[in-house]
Amino acid sequence: MKATFKAALAGLAISTAMSSAAFAEDIKVGVLLPYSGVFAALAQDIDDAFVLGLDTFGAEAGVTFEIVREDTEVKPPVGLAKTKKLILQDEVDVLVGVVSSGVLGAIRDTVDGAGVPLIVANAGNDEATGEACSPFITRISFSNQQVNRPMGKWMVDQGVKKVFTIAPDYAAGRQMIDAFTTAFIAAGGEVVGQEWPPFQKTQDFGPFLANAKASGADAVYVFFAGGEAISFVKQYDSFGMKAELPLYGSGFLTSSLYVNAQGSAAEGVITALHYVPTLDNPENAALVEAFKAKTGRIPSEYAVQGYDSARALVEAVKSGATDRETLAAALPKVSFTGPRGELRIDPATNNIVQPIHVYETIAGADGLTQKVLATLPAEADPVNGCAMPSAAN
Ligand code: PHB
Repeated sequence: MKATFKAALAGLAISTAMSSAAFAEDIKVGVLLPYSGVFAALAQDIDDAFVLGLDTFGAEAGVTFEIVREDTEVKPPVGLAKTKKLILQDEVDVLVGVVSSGVLGAIRDTVDGAGVPLIVANAGNDEATGEACSPFITRISFSNQQVNRPMGKWMVDQGVKKVFTIAPDYAAGRQMIDAFTTAFIAAGGEVVGQEWPPFQKTQDFGPFLANAKASGADAVYVFFAGGEAISFVKQYDSFGMKAELPLYGSGFLTSSLYVNAQGSAAEGVITALHYVPTLDNPENAALVEAFKAKTGRIPSEYAVQGYDSARALVEAVKSGATDRETLAAALPKVSFTGPRGELRIDPATNNIVQPIHVYETIAGADGLTQKVLATLPAEADPVNGCAMPSAAN
């Protein structure tokens, strides 16, 4: 069946018609991550925790998992080429990964057309679980609007009335900031200025910071991740901005993955996220201990996304999935209590539904740590034009 599938596709558009080969004892997992570029550290955390999750839960599935890795870099055309290679050449049964919203946007039609289930372990682009939703795409991570929307009202409630926003000029930056500003304005706040530094190209944030300083804002709200988050937070502090203009953002800004590289510059920054390693529950304690033993690091939000992706895959196989179609149909039905608490997928969009934690980065005994200031209740995203067809069509 797999050979037929491959032959039929040579030179043709990828189509769903022949996509459902039954699983052998081995399930081939194509892992698509940016092992190089500004998000390389994020990729390693997702990968390490995905493997840990398979080691922890995989035996229950009664199959073995074979991993084929591909580096998407942070380049949509590269991500697309690697996706096609995993589907056509390696004939993977399932795809896991994707960090950049731009890459997810680029591979969406190929994944949907080929009928290969994709477990999104990071990329938050709203349309992947909105107007461009697919029965083959299930998101275990977060959506860009989900982690930013709740901060709009919360900040107004804290007395912040005027903000200046800064984020890289690409899909995720735009969506994160737009979700925040829409909620902030609806709650009575005012956006006094915005900057969109070029993505993956900006080393000196000075000109953008100067505009924020001159804007009359009470605070600055940003999204940055990976290497850009480290340099932005350091430059914000060295420009002497922190004392005058408190820094807020989506929690990737001060991820536990790289907050110690930011050092004291990150202290006092207030952000929001779906996971922080200081969450107090037994599933999180088990993850922290096992991840530390394996890597020497504490798990970040990226790690928990990889770990929960593995568990979701195992749970879907355990529930009786036997091929790509039944796996795609089983994934959104998966629910379990993990390090983030109770995890469920909204069947209307295949997006995760989860609480959001507002946290402050503070000095702890072993470096910087996360103090949860508020936990805002889980809210399913609006369907945003998603008309979810069945995976079996
Ligand atoms: C994204 O491009 O969707 C993205 C990348 C890195 C993050 C969060 C979102 O930390």
